[in-house]
Amino acid sequence: MQQTKKWWKESVVYQIYPRSFNDSNGDGIGDIKGIIEKLDYLKKLGVDVIWLSPVYKSPNDDNGYDISDYQEIMDEFGTMDDWDELLKEAHSRGLRLIMDLVVNHSSDEHAWFAESRKSKDHPYRDYYIWRPGKEDGSEPNNWESAFSGSAWEYDEATEEYFLHLFSKKQPDLNWENPSVRREVYDMMRWWLDKGIDGFRMDVINFISKVPGLPDAPNPQGKKYVPGGDYFMNGPRIHEFLHEMHNEVMKDYDMMTVGEMPGVGPQEAVRYTQEDREEVNMVFQFEHVDLDSGPEGKWDLRPLKLSALRDNLVKWQKALEKDGWNSLYMNNHDQPRMVSRFANDGKYREESAKMLATLLHMMRGTPYIYQGEELGMTNVKFENIDDYKDIETLNMYNEKRAEGIAHDELMKRIYVKGRDNARTPVQWDDSDHAGFTSGTPWIRLNPNYMQINAKQALEDGKSIFYYYQQLIQLRHQYDIVVYGSFDVILNDHEEVFAYKRELGDETLVVYCNFYDRTPTVEILRDYRDRDRHLFISNYEVEDLKSNEITLKPYETRVYHFKN
Ligand code: NOJ
Repeated sequence: MQQTKKWWKESVVYQIYPRSFNDSNGDGIGDIKGIIEKLDYLKKLGVDVIWLSPVYKSPNDDNGYDISDYQEIMDEFGTMDDWDELLKEAHSRGLRLIMDLVVNHSSDEHAWFAESRKSKDHPYRDYYIWRPGKEDGSEPNNWESAFSGSAWEYDEATEEYFLHLFSKKQPDLNWENPSVRREVYDMMRWWLDKGIDGFRMDVINFISKVPGLPDAPNPQGKKYVPGGDYFMNGPRIHEFLHEMHNEVMKDYDMMTVGEMPGVGPQEAVRYTQEDREEVNMVFQFEHVDLDSGPEGKWDLRPLKLSALRDNLVKWQKALEKDGWNSLYMNNHDQPRMVSRFANDGKYREESAKMLATLLHMMRGTPYIYQGEELGMTNVKFENIDDYKDIETLNMYNEKRAEGIAHDELMKRIYVKGRDNARTPVQWDDSDHAGFTSGTPWIRLNPNYMQINAKQALEDGKSIFYYYQQLIQLRHQYDIVVYGSFDVILNDHEEVFAYKRELGDETLVVYCNFYDRTPTVEILRDYRDRDRHLFISNYEVEDLKSNEITLKPYETRVYHFKN
C-alpha cells in the first residue's frame, strides 16, 4: 500500500464561499476582512487548510466562477492588501490557504476575450473556441450548457459562435493553444510566489475537448444534449496536467485537488497516482449523482443506503494502493448533507455527527464546507425571486417555458438547488444571523435562531465540538490517515460499517443511517481484543457487550489494539 506521508493527506480542508461567509462592511456581501475576523474560529475548529472559492475580479454572473482578471481581487470582497493580510494572518496561525483555479473558462469581460471577439485574425482569437455555424446557420454542434440552453453563443461582430460549457458569460479557453497554457502557468506561479499553498481546480478535466467538437448522440431528437463524452477526461487531459505539474507544481510544496465531474475510479487513479505527476486528488461526483435520474440533477430519485455504500466503498478500494481520495458531501454546489443523506429535523445533530464520522474516518482528505460544522440545513423559499443561482434560475425559466408547473419546479429546487448551500453562515441569533449589518445579498435560512455558531460554541456537545474532536483524532492517530479500508456488514440495510487497519491497530466504524434501532454484532475476530471508544454521538453505557443496539442515527467508532 502506498504510504508516502504528505501534509495534505494529514490535513482537513475547510471551504469558504466568501460571498456568504461573513460581511465586515455592511454591504450585505461577505468579504475578505470578514474572513480574517473568523480565523480564530477556524483555528478553534482545528482545520489545517482553507480553500477560498474565487475572490478574483468578476462580474459575478456565476458568483466569481467567471473571472475577468486572475490577478486582481473582486471589489466587493476588498483589495489585494486585504488578501495579503488574510494570507499573513492565516499563516501566522498555522493555517494554509489554497485558491480556486478557474481556467476551463474565463469571464467574457476578461481582456483576452474582449480582444478575441474583435476579429477572426486577431492574435487573441485562438485563446477561445470559435466556430462558424452549421450550413443552416445553427450552432456548430448540439451540446447543452450545464446552465441550460445551447453551449454556443453567436457573436455579431465576427458572425461566429463561441463555446461556453457554462453560462454565456463564461467562454471556454482554448487549451490547444500553447500561449493560453503559458499564461495560466505564469498566473499560477504568481500566486504561489505570493505564498499560497495550492489550488482547487475548477472542472479541470474539461479542458481538453475532442477535436472536431462532434455532435453528441441524440436518440430522442432533443434540441440540445449533454456533450460530456467530448470534453470530460478528453484526449490531451493527462498531457496538460502533467505539463502543468512540470511547469508549476513541481517547484512548490503545495496541494492540488482537481474538480472532475464524470470521472470514474480507474481514471481517478491515473490522475492521482504519485509517479504520474498530475494532481494530488480529485473531487469525483458519483456519490452525489446517485439521487439523480437519466435526465440529470433535477430528475429526482430516492437514494438507498446500499447504493451510497457500494459507491463509496468502490472509491475507497480503487484508490487504496495508488492515488488518494478526497472526502466530501457538501460544497457550494451541493445541497446540505443532513437534509440530503440523513435527517434535518428531530435527529439533525445526531445525523450531522454520524455523516461527519462516516467521512472523516475514511481514507482520504476530508473537506468541510462552511456551516457544515454547525449542521446547517437546506432552505425553502416560496418565491423564485429569492433564489440567486444562475443554474437554478435558468433551469426554472426554461422548464416554466416548457409548461412545467411552478410547484413542481420548486420541489426540485428545494432538494437540489445550489442556493441551499449559499445562504449566509449563521453566526448568532441577532438580525441576519450576525452575517451582516446591512441587507444580505441572499435571504438567510430562517432557522438561524436555533442553529448558529454562538449557540454551538456555548454547548460542549455541539456538532462544532464533535468536528473538533474528529480533526484531533486525525492529527493524533496515523491509522485515521494511513490505515487500510475494508467494508464490513456489506449488505446491512440500515448500517454502514467498515474497518481501518494499520500495524496492530484496528478502527471499526458503525453508522446507523435511519431512525430505527438495529442490533449489530461485534465481529468475532475482535471480541477478545481490548477496545476503547474512539468517538461516538451518544453516551455509550456498556462498552463490553458483543452486541450493539444502535440508537437513531447513532455512530460509534471502536479502537482495538493487538
Ligand atoms: C464548478 C463550480 O464549483 C461551480 O460553482 C461553477 O458554477 C462551475 N464549476 C463553473 O465554473
